[in-house]
Amino acid sequence: MNGIDLRSDTVTRPTPEMRQAMYDAEVADDGLEGDPTTQRLEELAAELLGTEAALLVASGSMGNLVAALAHCEPGDAMIVGERSHMAWSADQGKGHSTYGQIGVRRLPENPDGKLGIEDIGLSMAAESESDSRVVLVNMENTHNASDGRPIDPAWTSSFASQVHDRGAALHIDGARLFNAAVALNVPASALVADADSATFCLSKGLACPIGGIVAGSRDYIAEAHNRRKIVGGEMRQTGVISAAGIVALNSMVDRMADDHANARRLAEGLAQISGISIEPERVTTNILYFTLSDRTPEEVEQSLAEEGVHCFAIDDRVRMVTHHHITPEDIETTLGTVQRVIQSPPRAG
Ligand SMILES: Cc1ncc(COP(=O)(O)O)c(C=O)c1O
Repeated sequence: MNGIDLRSDTVTRPTPEMRQAMYDAEVADDGLEGDPTTQRLEELAAELLGTEAALLVASGSMGNLVAALAHCEPGDAMIVGERSHMAWSADQGKGHSTYGQIGVRRLPENPDGKLGIEDIGLSMAAESESDSRVVLVNMENTHNASDGRPIDPAWTSSFASQVHDRGAALHIDGARLFNAAVALNVPASALVADADSATFCLSKGLACPIGGIVAGSRDYIAEAHNRRKIVGGEMRQTGVISAAGIVALNSMVDRMADDHANARRLAEGLAQISGISIEPERVTTNILYFTLSDRTPEEVEQSLAEEGVHCFAIDDRVRMVTHHHITPEDIETTLGTVQRVIQSPPRAG
């Protein structure tokens, strides 16, 4: 797509270094003897997250599915935040459970994307003999729908101990875990230290074309490996994906600070435009949302697209996401375009 593409960080294309590494990758059947490049990626991912082991998956959604299946037996239940991506995934089944036979309970998050431990206690206490048992609690970091807010290690640690006290495991959907680490200036391992499993995406801000990682203990990853196979995630000569992942983890993490600075600058500029409502100080990673007083989000999405600026209307908000291909000049162009679109008379009909 031409123009300035702020729809998502998933639009990032592999760098020349990634393409070369993919071309050169040593590969073998990952389902048989194991793919050597994938093994290197999994070791590197485990090292960065401070876990015993890690597993390559096709996507963030597959990572969360495999992670949940590896924690739960048929008939068990898990808790998700009602504005989380996992809740969204669970809702996509049109009557079929997208998480297999796992019961999904949705609880509200606060505006920073944090679940309330009291709500979890109440939800678990409400279990009757016939109810499924809650064995897993999922949280998201960064929290996409909550302005991409990063959740700090101290909160996560105390949350994890309370989840554990109630006999459940904690999984972190860290699709943008490295954005959180960069924004909070902590190692990614500190963000998942007290969790039982975590996922992150290679194909978002890290700019890989494909892939995600599930991380956890050696036994847990062995179980996740089995679950990945039954959901069709054994991908054979995966070194071509993993080679890009290794480049990303070695060279694309620190630069995310630029994406965050661009998002903040964009938020500050948008806050100056009459008809737009946004709190720039909440924007500390690469995602921002704003609301509009006189236009619908769909109308603004369409008018901006006609001017070459692409974003998403999501419910009553407009979302913009910065990433590797967005420059400071793009931010200024976007602000000028938004100003023009918002101030032009609304279309008839
Ligand atoms: C928080 C979160 N988790 C998981 C996913 C799913 O990732 P994928 O699109 O790779 O399946 C997304 C996608 O945007 C996300 O925002």
